[in-house]
Amino acid sequence: MKQATRANSRRVTSSQIDIHPRLQEVVSRHLEHRWQQPIREHNRAVFTELAGTVDLQSLIFDLGCGVGESTTWLARQHPDCLVVGVDRSAARLRVAGATSDLHRTGNKVLVRSDVEDFVRLAVQSQWRAKQIWLLYPNPSPKSAQLKRRWHAHPVWPDMLALGGRLEMRTNWKIYALEMQWTLNYCQRPASVSVLADDHQPITPFERKYQGSGQPLYRVNTKRRVLQ
Ligand SMILES: C[S@@+](CC[C@H](N)C(=O)[O-])C[C@H]1O[C@@H](n2cnc3c(N)ncnc32)[C@H](O)[C@@H]1O
Repeated sequence: MKQATRANSRRVTSSQIDIHPRLQEVVSRHLEHRWQQPIREHNRAVFTELAGTVDLQSLIFDLGCGVGESTTWLARQHPDCLVVGVDRSAARLRVAGATSDLHRTGNKVLVRSDVEDFVRLAVQSQWRAKQIWLLYPNPSPKSAQLKRRWHAHPVWPDMLALGGRLEMRTNWKIYALEMQWTLNYCQRPASVSVLADDHQPITPFERKYQGSGQPLYRVNTKRRVLQ
């Protein structure tokens, strides 16, 4: 991966110039074989604690929520839903105000967990999402890193099984196009659009990329294709 600096933000570059040539093969394999990697004990423990407090109201998941700015925004937008922000970084969640691995305030919960375990535990518990948000996931732009991208990750079938409207945002166009392709391949029609220049940012990464003039791509399972 090479990255060029402009203003304070890095623009993603990659040897990949289009959708990964092995995307279909990788996604098909994940769809055929459920992922067997054991769930880590600390993730199970925090999920069990969360499950004890959730009465299965409408759930919105903010996966990879970082410092939780978007989780707060979503909680304000949807006062009738429980918004669950999940991140594996205790340091980032502390910035968000979390004082423990599970931190609830009103209709917002911050959970320290690996997303891949959290999602599988939620599916096993037959939870269903109203919405899933993936905001600026690490792009993993090296070709060999394909399986680290959420749409090519072995947890992808479980993420789809959670249901709900999915929105992903990224500053790497190829990530957006790959996710759109994968959603369509999985019978979840999706569109890609570009956020307006004057869009009000809802996460620190969004603010940073926008501030340095980078186009920001939004993949959405409901909107019609705009490009
Ligand atoms: C690029 S940051 C984006 C954070 C935030 N969504 C934003 O836009 O400001 C990616 C975040 O995903 C988290 N993350 C990456 N992989 C994860 C995983 N497998 N499980 C949980 N969190 C993860 C990182 O800790 C980090 O906070």
